[in-house]
Amino acid sequence: MTTPPIDPDFCVTTIAGTGSYLPERILTNADLQHMVDTSDEWITTRTGIKERRIAAEGQSTSDMAAEAARRAMESANVTADDLDLIIVATVSPDMFFPATACLVQDKIGARNAIAFDISAACSGFLFAMQVARHFINTGNRRTVLVIGAEKLSSLVNWDDRNTCVLFGDGAGAAVLKRIDNGGDQPGRVVSTVMGTDGSLAHLLRVPGGGAACPITPDNADQRLNTIHMEGRETFKHAVTRMCHASEEALAKAGLKASDVTLLIPHQANHRIISAIGERLGVPAERTFVNLDRYGNTSAATIPIALDEARRSGRLKRGDIVLLVAFGGGFTWASSVIAW
Ligand SMILES: CC(C)(COP(=O)(O)OP(=O)(O)OC[C@H]1O[C@@H](n2cnc3c(N)ncnc32)[C@H](O)[C@@H]1OP(=O)(O)O)[C@@H](O)C(=O)NCCC(=O)NCCS
Repeated sequence: MTTPPIDPDFCVTTIAGTGSYLPERILTNADLQHMVDTSDEWITTRTGIKERRIAAEGQSTSDMAAEAARRAMESANVTADDLDLIIVATVSPDMFFPATACLVQDKIGARNAIAFDISAACSGFLFAMQVARHFINTGNRRTVLVIGAEKLSSLVNWDDRNTCVLFGDGAGAAVLKRIDNGGDQPGRVVSTVMGTDGSLAHLLRVPGGGAACPITPDNADQRLNTIHMEGRETFKHAVTRMCHASEEALAKAGLKASDVTLLIPHQANHRIISAIGERLGVPAERTFVNLDRYGNTSAATIPIALDEARRSGRLKRGDIVLLVAFGGGFTWASSVIAW
């Protein structure tokens, strides 16, 4: 068993519990065949997605986030009163403001917590985890709820077959705790790297609806307030950036890809996931995939996968877990967790 050293720049932060929530409604590839010119065969071979979840009428991002949060708190054995910080990573907030994290704070009754959102698209959960780690490291906060939650069905152009087959709704959460004695604990965050390249922002974005391009009666029919993506270009950058980020996070932890027990990559496309596994040298049986069931839930993919891996017994004491994500911005991040 390889025990990575404790980073001297950080006190020990652990993932003390995880939770996730997926809405009940399932939208299959067969359903999509009735909505746009596509086929189960195309979607399955090009993406690996078979079905995705869609939020119920009236169910918002904060509703899903709050449910994932309750499950994470239960698994971490903490109460809402114990939380002193809530960070929600999302690109589909309930509204511009207040932050979705404030709405979650109210829904779960976490009166002692400060709360704010982070917008880093599909890398949002890992960005939020690192921000939480910094808060914990300064001694400022001890028990932090980090959530990735998305209602992407509200941002999808359901007439665009290039994008509508890819995305889904859901939420995942983790409770991060400061460990004072500096000892080794399961779920220890060992290293994190993050990156951004704003010059490529145009390749994946929701161009309208914000201050730069408010939706007006004149431009509403152009569907500018939905997801626009250059799929092929995004694909290439996703593979390159996620490989480099993984290698950097492992090097920072003093580990090699062969030490990785479980790779949990952002769930966007099975071809991206396979390419990363191949380049890093992590075989498919050590790679977690639930993309077939949920599609791409942006900031929620990593915490949902982490929660499913933990609950299904795939995380054991001594395991080295490699998390890696890539998303609009572009943004990317990778974290090594010692379980
Ligand atoms: C989106 C993605 C699945 C498209 O796969 P691709 O192999 O690159 O396919 P292309 O975009 O080149 O399109 C190939 C053809 O399939 C067609 N096509 C696109 N979507 C289709 C669909 N749902 N059903 C059937 N055909 C489709 C295209 O129109 C194109 O047809 P043409 O050759 O006649 O022009 C892929 O590029 C991808 O996964 N990109 C990265 C996505 C991602 O990671 N996004 C999030 C990052 S967080």
